[in-house]
Amino acid sequence: MIQIKIDGKNINARKGANLVDVALENGIYIPTLCYLKGEPCLGTCRVCSVKVDGATAAACTVPVLHGMEVEVNEPEVADMRKALVESLFAEGAHNCPSCEKSGRCDLQAVGYEVGMMVSRFEYRFTPRQRDYGSEKILLERDRCIFCQRCVEFVRDEETGKKIFSISGRGPKARIEINVELANKMSAVEVTRAVNLCPVGTIVEKKVGFNQPIGRRKFDIKSIRERALEGETK
Ligand code: SF4
Ligand code: FES
Repeated sequence: MIQIKIDGKNINARKGANLVDVALENGIYIPTLCYLKGEPCLGTCRVCSVKVDGATAAACTVPVLHGMEVEVNEPEVADMRKALVESLFAEGAHNCPSCEKSGRCDLQAVGYEVGMMVSRFEYRFTPRQRDYGSEKILLERDRCIFCQRCVEFVRDEETGKKIFSISGRGPKARIEINVELANKMSAVEVTRAVNLCPVGTIVEKKVGFNQPIGRRKFDIKSIRERALEGETK
C-alpha cells in the first residue's frame, strides 16, 4: 500500500491503481466519459483532467504512486473540465430535449455535474450523415464524441472483429459501422453497445422512447451517485 493526497485528504491505495478508481473508493468523484472500469484506458475525452503534483493529467491514465498530490476540485482544473464538456456540446449536435438518450446520456449527466449551463464556445452543429444501414442500429453520427468505447469494446462474438470504426480525420472524422457484423448482433449485444455509447449516437431501432423521460437512470440517480456506489456500465 502507498499514501497519496487528494484535495488535501490522506488516502491509502494500492500502488499502481487507477486514480479515478482510488478517488471513487474514497468518496471523491472525478467525471469520466471514455473510461470504463476494468477495461484498458482509452484517454480520449480528457474530461477526467485533474492536477497531479501541479501538472494537468487525465486521471484515468494515471497509476497512483507514493507521495502523489492530486487536486480535483481546484478551481482552474475544475473549470478546465467544464470547458472540455462545453466544447463537446459545441462540436456536435446535442439537442437534448429531443434526443432518445436524454436522461440516460453520460455527456448530459456529466454536463450537470460540471455545472454547465451553456457552452462558452460557438456551436458548430457539425452535420454528419446518419447511417440507417444496419437492421438493428441507427447511427446518429452528429452526436459522436469519438470516445472510441464502441470501437475498442464492441466486437463480433464469433470472429473478434471490430464492429465500429472511425474514418477520416479532424472535421472529416466520423463513426462507421460494419453492417454485416452489426446485423449478426444479438439483442443483448445491441443493448450493450447502446449503453456503452456515452451519448445518443448508437441508437437501437424500433424501441425509441420505450422508457419515459423523467423515469430514466440519471433522472432517478445522478451519474456521480452511481459512480460512487461502484456502478459500471
Ligand atoms: S459512437 Fe458513441 S461509443 Fe462510439 S465513439 Fe462515438 S460516442 Fe463513443
Ligand atoms: S475519462 Fe479519462 S480521458 Fe476520458
